[in-house]
Amino acid sequence: MKSTFLWGSATASYQCEGAWNLDDKIESIWDVYLHENNFENGDISSDHYHHFEEDIKMMKEGGQNSYRFSLSWCRILNQDNQINPKGIDFYNKIINCCIANDITPFVTIYHWDLPNYLQEKGGWLHSNTCYAFLEFSKVCFAYFGDRIRYWTTFNEPRWFVFNGYFIGNYPPCHQNIEETIKAAFHVMFASALVVQEFKQKNYPGNIGIVHSYSPVDGIDQTLATKIAMRYADNYCNNWVLDTAVFGEIPIDLLTELSKKYDISYMKEEYLKIIKNNTVDFLGLNYYSRVLVKPYTSGETSLIVNNSGKKAKGTSKVIIKGWFEQVANPNSKYTEWDTEIYPKGLQDGLVKAYQKYQIPLYVTENGIGYYEDVSNGIVNDVYRISYMNDHLLALINAIDLGADVRGYFTWSSFDLYSWKNGCEKRYGLVAVDFDNQQIRRPKASYHWYKSVILSNGKNIK
Ligand code: BG6
Repeated sequence: MKSTFLWGSATASYQCEGAWNLDDKIESIWDVYLHENNFENGDISSDHYHHFEEDIKMMKEGGQNSYRFSLSWCRILNQDNQINPKGIDFYNKIINCCIANDITPFVTIYHWDLPNYLQEKGGWLHSNTCYAFLEFSKVCFAYFGDRIRYWTTFNEPRWFVFNGYFIGNYPPCHQNIEETIKAAFHVMFASALVVQEFKQKNYPGNIGIVHSYSPVDGIDQTLATKIAMRYADNYCNNWVLDTAVFGEIPIDLLTELSKKYDISYMKEEYLKIIKNNTVDFLGLNYYSRVLVKPYTSGETSLIVNNSGKKAKGTSKVIIKGWFEQVANPNSKYTEWDTEIYPKGLQDGLVKAYQKYQIPLYVTENGIGYYEDVSNGIVNDVYRISYMNDHLLALINAIDLGADVRGYFTWSSFDLYSWKNGCEKRYGLVAVDFDNQQIRRPKASYHWYKSVILSNGKNIK
């Protein structure tokens, strides 16, 4: 591994900061949605807001040299688009603390916590939100750009757009295909607007986007399966990756969509901005691949388990006329029905590099588990095994020529896992949510440290 390789871990503002109404922070869509529905929320969560120094110090002591975190729009700007100095101050402290500990900050501008007042004005269905996002990003660049060298515009457009507008289990909880397409387009346009700003103003460093990467495999080699795989790749990956890297939404995808839906809001002037403002690198979050077969029957349906409860064998994706996702009877699955398939990371990185030819970072990878953190050290051998196998896949991909420059495990410490609540834990460090958010490193934390110290050599 090169000496510049980023060995890190990742979090997101809403999931870990807590302090939901402190220091003039305004409400995000998640605050409002979870409070109104009386769902488990991130009001306190890991209370990173008050523990960030301890957390960053632990990263340093754990050998990590980079921290991926996101900025809360709701802390930085108020409803009248005025800058909140307390929000700026908080992130200055985080960034400075990282630098003091030789940790490279790797910043996500948007990890799903849209200000609620913007949702009330139409959210991602309205191009005004794209320009509001640009204004927010300008503030981030102006205040933090002197010390940040890695920026990403969005975390996982597919995940938050499909859950919010198609499945309806994330705010704004709509179930509408036309809206899904429109929101997706606006997010990609907003990303390009921000890339344009970054490049025009010549900020130092690089800018990318983070994608929930699902490399596509087919059940066989037939032509019908290959066509299904192309549909699945457009649906899962290409609308984000091709658009961000090549500046073009796949034409066969647009052809399909335009047969059924009005896409006239994809104006030439917007498409031009997308074309001219492509990313410098890709962040790929990898949890699993997708295995597909040709469409047989049934209505379009997307069932994912993020209820917080275990539910093996319940996930299902059918896109009518395009493809069906199938389970592999020979694979292991997590209790939440995610296939554990490290080879998918190896193949996916090689494929992505061959196609896009820009630097890649694995910006999330990890496994959620129910764990008792109330006493002693959590002996998370399953996490060690999961990370080992995925790091091996990453190393293999580098050996096969992929330019992979960093690995961030999800997550730095236990945090609030959206609709899955706090019970499903991902952290290298346990957070005792019932006992003043006390932190205790798990076995995986020590193991990861030894991997980093060996520069990956003790991965087997
Ligand atoms: C990624 C997100 O999709 O997966 C994270 O970027 C999220 O924010 C992680 O927490 C794990 O998913 P979940 O639903 O189990 O928390």
